Amino acid sequence: MQLTRHKPIVTSLKPSNHPYLNGAWTPLHEEVDALELEVIEGAIPTDIDGVYLRNTENQIHQPLGRFHPFDGDGMLHQIDFANGRANYRNRFVRTRCFHAEQEAQDSLWGGLMDRVGVSKRPGFGAHGGLKDSSSTDVIVHAGKALSTFYQCGEAYVVDPETLETEGVAHWGPLDGVSAHPKVDERTGELMFFNYSTHAPYMHYGVVDADNKLIHYRPVPLPGPRLPHDMAFTENYAILNDFPLFWDPEALKLNAHVVRMHPGIPSRFAIVPRRGNGEIRWFEAAPTFVLHWTNAYEDGDEIVLDGYFQSNPEPGKFKDAPQGYEHMMGHLDEHTFQSRLHRWRFNLKTGATQEETLDPRILEFGTINQRVAGRKYRYVYSTTSKPGWFLFTGFVKHDLETRTSESYELGEGRYGSEAPFAPRIGATDEDDGYLVSFVIDENRGTAECVLIDAKRIDDGPVVRIALPHKICSGTHACWADRQFIRDRKRP
Ligand SMILES: [Fe+2]
Repeated sequence: MQLTRHKPIVTSLKPSNHPYLNGAWTPLHEEVDALELEVIEGAIPTDIDGVYLRNTENQIHQPLGRFHPFDGDGMLHQIDFANGRANYRNRFVRTRCFHAEQEAQDSLWGGLMDRVGVSKRPGFGAHGGLKDSSSTDVIVHAGKALSTFYQCGEAYVVDPETLETEGVAHWGPLDGVSAHPKVDERTGELMFFNYSTHAPYMHYGVVDADNKLIHYRPVPLPGPRLPHDMAFTENYAILNDFPLFWDPEALKLNAHVVRMHPGIPSRFAIVPRRGNGEIRWFEAAPTFVLHWTNAYEDGDEIVLDGYFQSNPEPGKFKDAPQGYEHMMGHLDEHTFQSRLHRWRFNLKTGATQEETLDPRILEFGTINQRVAGRKYRYVYSTTSKPGWFLFTGFVKHDLETRTSESYELGEGRYGSEAPFAPRIGATDEDDGYLVSFVIDENRGTAECVLIDAKRIDDGPVVRIALPHKICSGTHACWADRQFIRDRKRP
């Protein structure tokens, strides 16, 4: 392995016993390029060609108040596969806020758990008091990686092969772009949404394969809401209005208190992908959903799969350090109880049907992106460590046969969201690999694993050593080199 370390960034973070600034959530501040990574076990397949990108949250400066892991600064990690070889690099996303805090050599913004007044500068996005850290999601569109922030911010354009930040997406509207824009690889289009505390509270937009904003319309809501993800089919985008949102009275005092309103149903907006046709609304059981896996049209019905939360306002986590009880409750899938779920919306009758697909606690699902928006068969979910926002393994569901198989990473080993990398020339939907970074707390190291998606329970076909231990984070994606270069599938 050839390792190049880059000029260190300025950091003012002091050691602490914060549960999400230690262990697998210890922030990484080093930026490197590593060529010809070493294999720990197995062999790097020669039949994939592309990049895995992961966004992580690495706090650089001493927090002004109480730190929440979603306050951390966005860092992209990349592993690039070609011809049976793998290279790695990582870079902080050079956001406006990153540069401002590097210049100040200190934090300028408070976090999610702080009062808005803690920030020394005006904040960004729906919350209004936060730093736009671009640390939540990463996808590839129009040949570029886009990193985004869950409270709505600017979409940062990053070269997916060099990880150089090129600036902000020129098409981003004033209310910003939420995390989880979606790309239809068949058309090359990107669909996005944003939300805010002012009417009409939500918008939906489309950016084409040539990176032009071609559609933007309001999707009016009854008040400020906290949507996190969207889905799409061949003809529709699916947005949501869940009964978990900021308390309206507290919001008038500029305080952000999230409350579940169990008497209010969940509502789903079926929006034509383009044009200003009618938005159809459907009601369903009250819940909150962080992430969808996929959606598709099936005759008169729209089918939507995602993770239904049985306990969206989980309250205090009893074993948390003082002051962090609510934070740890909201970060624990076993406390908010997310399960794979299917909603069916009948466009003819207006009726909704729903069912639980698996009783296990799961979240952070991925699919073969070539079937995004179309009828699909396989979904890959993650399991997590009770009490913690840490991924411990993967479950593959066959939605046709309603069977599943799984793989657990082992004690002290924590994975990352594992997108599907299709094998070159693949025709089967599950002909490819799940790609994940694994933090090994037993050894203080990190590695990349590839798992044959047809044989999840066999475990990794290769384990590749990363040059440093990385910090845990949220989302990741896979992009074929051909898709990066061509901007859509031929
Ligand atoms: Fe997310």
